[in-house]
Amino acid sequence: MLYIIDSANLEEIRSLVEYYPIDGVTTNPTIISKEHNPDFLALIRAIRSIIGEERMLHVQTTATRAEEIIKEAYALKEIVGGNFYLKVPISEEGLKATRKLKGMGINVTVTAIFTQQQALIAAKAGAAFVAPYVNRLDNIVSDGVHVVTEIVELFKLHNITSCRVLAASFKSIEQVHKTSMIGCHAVTLNPDMFQKLVYHPLTLTAIEDFNKDWAAVYGDRKILDMAEN
Ligand code: E4P
Repeated sequence: MLYIIDSANLEEIRSLVEYYPIDGVTTNPTIISKEHNPDFLALIRAIRSIIGEERMLHVQTTATRAEEIIKEAYALKEIVGGNFYLKVPISEEGLKATRKLKGMGINVTVTAIFTQQQALIAAKAGAAFVAPYVNRLDNIVSDGVHVVTEIVELFKLHNITSCRVLAASFKSIEQVHKTSMIGCHAVTLNPDMFQKLVYHPLTLTAIEDFNKDWAAVYGDRKILDMAEN
């Protein structure tokens, strides 16, 4: 399963890429707006420079007409470079753009997916990823993980291998865990979620005990000191 950062904060991205096995970054206009950076293109270029050329960078279009979406895709692909995906919210115009962009060799992630059939038709239109929103479904007393489960199942049933499921909008580790249990291809998480993924109080206790037991016999001597002497 791919782990992707859902943020445009340069410091957080820099830190996460250093510590975690990160496969890419997703942004959307809301995430971008949180950085209050008047130079959007400089911000996107800086993200690319931090994550390198190979990791995926998903940048969302702000256009609504297919022709404009396609023009933005070309411009952004040129500016962003590397492993680039244009995020397009699902709509008729978005599907039209997706079909054309697929033919032109530009990767599209169809986003703001809330139903199984939205995902299926986006995949058929040529999306490389579909992004269903788990927590936003849970918030309306729907079941986000269930929707993701059925999208993954639908893709298997219909032998769709050209489109993967990039589940988004997570607020709990339980949502992430259940999503990974059904074989979802990718999750995009805000930076706080990565820390929650690795945290457990019993792990901290275990590490404290290891340190205490070592110190009881060896004091503050380190393995490296012993190896060098
Ligand atoms: C990512 O592609 C989505 O835009 C994002 O995960 C939505 O998350 P939110 O529901 O926390 O805004």
